[in-house]
Amino acid sequence: MKFFVDSAEIDQIAELNDLGMVDGVTTNPSLIMKSSRDIIEVTKEICSIVSGPVSAEVTATEAETMIAEGRKLSKIADNIAIKVPLTWDGLKACKVLSGEGNMVNVTLCFSANQALLAAKAGATFISPFIGRLDDINIDGMDLIEDIRVIYDNYGFETQILAASIRTVNHVLESARIGADVMTAPPAVIKSLASHPLTDKGLAAFLADIEKTGQKIL
Ligand code: G3P
Repeated sequence: MKFFVDSAEIDQIAELNDLGMVDGVTTNPSLIMKSSRDIIEVTKEICSIVSGPVSAEVTATEAETMIAEGRKLSKIADNIAIKVPLTWDGLKACKVLSGEGNMVNVTLCFSANQALLAAKAGATFISPFIGRLDDINIDGMDLIEDIRVIYDNYGFETQILAASIRTVNHVLESARIGADVMTAPPAVIKSLASHPLTDKGLAAFLADIEKTGQKIL
C-alpha cells in the first residue's frame, strides 16, 4: 500500500519522507489555508522534496476554468496530480486533463457510482472520504470495498486513494480491503507505530537491564 501524506506542512512532510514513509502528498484548499502559504510556492516546495505524486486542487467550479487552473498547476513540477472535485464539471476537467497526459485525482467521492464515473473519465486516483462518511454514521469502509469490487470487475486502472483517514483502524481496514493508496495526516501515520504493549514491554526491559548495572555504551 502506498502512503501519501495529507498535509501542506513542509517540516512534517520532510520528516516522514526522510524515513521512506512518503510515496506522495495530497493537499486541498483547507490544508493550504492551514499552512498560511501561497498555494503555488508551497506546492513547488513539496514537489522539490517528494518524488511521488503531489496532489494540488483546483478552486474553480466550472470545467473550463478548472482546466485552465489544472494546466497552470501542472507546470509547477512533473509530479503534480491535478485534483478536481467529483462534480459533472470536475469529470469534464478530468477527461481533458488526463487526456493531456496529466495525473488527475478526483476528490470528494462519497459513492461507488461516483467512483465508476471518475474511472470512466480517466482518473489516475479516486479519493473516497472515509472519515466524513463515518461522521454521518455511514461506514466509509463499505465504500472502499464496493469501489475495489467494481474496479476489479472491469479492470479499471484508476487507483483507490483512501482519504479522510483519521484513525489507525482506517489505515488497517483500507489495507485489508486493498486500497492502492491511503492518505493521512502526519500524526495518524506516526501513530501507526504506537502500541501500549510495546511501551509496557520496553519499560520492563529497561528496568531489568538497569538492575544488572550494565551499559552498552
Ligand atoms: O484527504 C482528504 C482530507 O484532507 C479530508 O480529511 O479529515 O478533513 O475529512 P478530513
